[in-house]
Amino acid sequence: MPRVFFERTKLEVDWPEGGSLVDLCDREPRAGVPFSCRHANCGTCRVEVREGLELCEAPDDDERQLLEHLRADSDRIRLACQLRVRAGDGRLHLWVTL
Ligand code: FES
Repeated sequence: MPRVFFERTKLEVDWPEGGSLVDLCDREPRAGVPFSCRHANCGTCRVEVREGLELCEAPDDDERQLLEHLRADSDRIRLACQLRVRAGDGRLHLWVTL
């Protein structure tokens, strides 16, 4: 099952079903990820995937366009409001960039 570690707040949680990261953050306020628009418009929710990139689904066009606009040229930088995580074994290690 995916295990998610939010480095800044040291929260580590099991998330067997995977899914939308914003839903997990809503359920776990101690995750400490700031959100504003929640629609790939502002970039407030940027996170760096330090481990577990293989658990992340590819960004959609909206996420890709904003990340390009923000000059986030690493595929490890993602928008937490758009990121979907696959169910399965592994550990997702996230760093909040703002
Ligand atoms: S909250 Fe605005 S881009 Fe994610």
